Amino acid sequence: MASVVVIGTQWGDEGKGKIVDILTRYADYIVRFQGGNNAGHTLVVEGKKFVFHIIPSGILYEEKVCMIGNGVIIDPAVLLTEMDELHDKGLQVTPRSLMISENAHLIMPYHQSLDQAKEAALATGKKIGTTGRGIGPCYMDKVGRIGIKAGDLLDDSLFRERLQENIEEKNFLLIKKYNSEPVSFDKIYADFQGFAERLTPFIGNVSVELDRARKSGQNILFEGAQGTQLDIDHGTYPFVTSSNTIAGNACNGSGFGPAHIDAVIGILKAYTTRVGEGPFPTELFDGIGDELQRKGGEFGATTGRKRRCGWLDGVVAADAVRLNGLTGLALTKLDVLSGQPVLKMATEYQLNGQRLSAMPSNIRQAAAVEPVYEELAGWQEDITGIRDINDLPVKARDYIKRIEDYTGVEAMLISVGPDREETMLLKNPFEKK
Ligand code: GDP
Ligand code: IMO
Ligand code: MG
Repeated sequence: MASVVVIGTQWGDEGKGKIVDILTRYADYIVRFQGGNNAGHTLVVEGKKFVFHIIPSGILYEEKVCMIGNGVIIDPAVLLTEMDELHDKGLQVTPRSLMISENAHLIMPYHQSLDQAKEAALATGKKIGTTGRGIGPCYMDKVGRIGIKAGDLLDDSLFRERLQENIEEKNFLLIKKYNSEPVSFDKIYADFQGFAERLTPFIGNVSVELDRARKSGQNILFEGAQGTQLDIDHGTYPFVTSSNTIAGNACNGSGFGPAHIDAVIGILKAYTTRVGEGPFPTELFDGIGDELQRKGGEFGATTGRKRRCGWLDGVVAADAVRLNGLTGLALTKLDVLSGQPVLKMATEYQLNGQRLSAMPSNIRQAAAVEPVYEELAGWQEDITGIRDINDLPVKARDYIKRIEDYTGVEAMLISVGPDREETMLLKNPFEKK
């Protein structure tokens, strides 16, 4: 019996969907604990591609239980569409296979309107480049104590009252401040009555269920969304998302005690990407950046935007080791680096003649740091067919070894392609020492 947290170490899109899918084989429960449908987690199984935005990436295994914890924010229309799409592919999502926390907040149509109106109103250079899914405004309402929870769908008069209170304030903002279209109470109320009818059987107490599962010896896998540098507290603020993305939030965001976590796996893409605005010290603006973007298929799984690409950033990795207490690494997209004569990894930053070993908190400093690079020899061979680490080119093994030495954390998984099969599991985090 073990509980394992998997999180992104960089700016998201490290391959969490794929790694969670691999580890689900050994888990009984798979739990999302923060973020919403700003996430886009891709799985490729026997050449078939699935992208999940809100349903945990364990859903393809029919006998497992997926949970959406209280820390997640849910757009019910998106959730139901995702469930319908799975149904069309022959996979049933039932109250036995999915539980939604009654304490998870709902993303309402006015959150999306406000997210988009706010971004549009920001000047160039100030825009965050959000996914436009209503994430910031929904978390604002949660913290502001005016949010609407999934559990409120079970109490019509409470839901109606909460909606009325909100509509008045949101339409004032939309019309007066953003010169934007108001939302309709009647339309939202009617739509949400339909959502309530369909979702009611899925809503429950995730914390109680996880406690029961743990006590009965079940393996629990927590699936992070976004990445460490997008964390609201520890990331490159304000160019971050509106939730805590680090491993500690697996507990807050699901109602699970921290003493019961056994392992924390950080997913590290073999190079770095970022989608949206904000500092990115190792970003490449040359042909190598374009090549990584093309070879890595680096387009956002949620918005389709091109991802910015750059070299591996050891400072970012070291931040992730510290902030998440990583006990293992999953190194992804190593195959994309094949063919590069030289690889670079930032080991420190330089700013005004000083060396820095952590991302500065000041956003202007974060944008101004210059990476200090270490160079490593690349390899030319295609490695996508390799399934034994000893068969990797020596230079690829040296690259992995250097990352392990630099971070002080061992690589437990190596991914050499998008497919479930294109993976080397060196050590199973569910097996206790
Ligand atoms: P997530 O948000 O962390 O789940 O990652 P995304 O799904 O947004 O982006 C990762 C992309 O890389 C997806 O298209 C995956 O199918 C793909 N991918 C994952 N691991 C590998 C790998 O090892 N090699 C290659 N070439 N692609 C990978
Ligand atoms: P996964 O789980 C990459 C980025 C957005 C934007 C910032 C704020 O697939 O790794 P938001 O809509 O959250 O208010 O946007 O965060 N962002 C992501 N970038 N992967 C994600 O999720 C992201 N979720 C949000 O691009 O810069
Ligand atoms: Mg993604």
